[in-house]
Amino acid sequence: MNGSTTASTTLAPTPSRPARIGILGRLAYAVMCLTGLVLAVTGVGTFLAGKAPMTHWVLMAHASAAPAFAMALAVVALSWSGSTRPGDAASQSGGLSRFWFWLVLLAGFVVLLSGVVPMTPVFGTHGQHALYLTHRYAAMVLTGALILHLVSLVLRPKSSR
Ligand code: HEM
Repeated sequence: MNGSTTASTTLAPTPSRPARIGILGRLAYAVMCLTGLVLAVTGVGTFLAGKAPMTHWVLMAHASAAPAFAMALAVVALSWSGSTRPGDAASQSGGLSRFWFWLVLLAGFVVLLSGVVPMTPVFGTHGQHALYLTHRYAAMVLTGALILHLVSLVLRPKSSR
């Protein structure tokens, strides 16, 4: 083996390996989808049925699913964001799929904040009402983005799963 071979072996660029989502990330995604379904049916469903605001067991189901959704969203953000970075050529997700993913994170963050903050008196009655409306409409964006992201995952080529 001569010196130039050694140098070229050492300096050869290592192809960047796209990070795979681990079991915890996949589990968190499943929990996020299941609790998101409960929250969307109780929250968006109540609004679309013209029965807002939520009451009784519907409100209890909404409030019970919310903490698990918040934790799952946080774990998904930590475990998926590395492999879905915008502009990452080695990513296994398509550009549109990545767009839906980041929209889920952004809308999810707004939904969480606007769901929790009105439970405090910090912003007064008008602020609470504005946050309630923000929560309602951000939740609809979140629901749509999550459905489209799920569809993009189901339709992606088997080789990238
Ligand atoms: C940490 C997460 C969440 C918390 C703490 C939370 C909490 C709340 C609360 C306190 C209300 C007002 C209940 C009322 O007075 O009627 C509400 C309403 C609502 N939530 Fe959530 N929520 C969360 C997540 C979600 C998610 C993920 C969705 C849907 C994907 C959602 C959709 C809705 C909708 C659409 C309404 C308004 C329903 C109406 O029109 O009256 N929420 N939420």
